[in-house]
Amino acid sequence: MSDWTVLGQVSDASNATLVVEAGDHRLVYKPVRGERPLWDFPDGTLARREVAAYEISRHLGWDVVPPTRWVEDGPYGPGSVQDWVGDDVAAVSVFREGAVPEGWLPVLQAVDDADRPLVVAHADTPRLRLITVFDLVVNNADRKGGHLLGDGDAAWGIDHGLSFHAEPKLRSVLWGFVGRPIDDGVLADLADRRDDLPDLLVGLSGAEGAALRARVDRVLADGVFPPPRGGPVIPWPPI
Ligand SMILES: Nc1ncnc2c1ncn2[C@@H]1O[C@H](COP(=O)(O)OP(=O)(O)OP(=O)(O)O)[C@@H](O)[C@H]1O
Ligand SMILES: [Mg+2]
Repeated sequence: MSDWTVLGQVSDASNATLVVEAGDHRLVYKPVRGERPLWDFPDGTLARREVAAYEISRHLGWDVVPPTRWVEDGPYGPGSVQDWVGDDVAAVSVFREGAVPEGWLPVLQAVDDADRPLVVAHADTPRLRLITVFDLVVNNADRKGGHLLGDGDAAWGIDHGLSFHAEPKLRSVLWGFVGRPIDDGVLADLADRRDDLPDLLVGLSGAEGAALRARVDRVLADGVFPPPRGGPVIPWPPI
């Protein structure tokens, strides 16, 4: 990767997340070497999870994750690289009480530093419903507002390093759809591709592949957006 220029590190990222330029492409590079160890995920697997999330999204025909691939010879060694999809428009936002826009779904109440009520809400769009099903399937433990880039109609999901754990770990702000039916076309995609999905988890365990298939079967059997399970279900911070 001799033509890569490292432009800098994303400042608030907890792992080494680098913005690089390759020719006229801007990319997000996450070297395995820069991963901070976590108590619940095996060391050195987060970048593999980034690539697997992209492969699952692509294989289902959903394309909710920007193109992401594995590199062996990045400037700091092996890791994931993802296309940069910079966009300031948000699909999740914070509003004053009573000011949630028409068509948005409130999910969380909060207060500001003067104790005034606030509401966290997300847009109500097919794209966000699709990403919500994607998160159920990949068991995303970190769907905060900042991990959705773009507005509700065109949002990309990013940061899937905490996905695919064999234990239930879904943490998300996209709880506005609970109890609604999942779109038939989305269920059909899952039914069609169910058997192939575990093969896409390169570098992850067989138990994680089996758990992936079990989650798909649960979504197909339920056919509705499930309520949160017990335990922490909202990532911190949520935005
Ligand atoms: N593909 C992308 N396109 C545009 N911006 C991105 C992309 N990937 C990451 N970013 C930006 O970089 C930030 C950090 O990236 P990311 O969340 O993937 O890294 P992280 O190391 O897991 O960080 P954190 O622990 O803060 O979540 C994102 O919040 C986003 O602002
Ligand atoms: Mg992040």
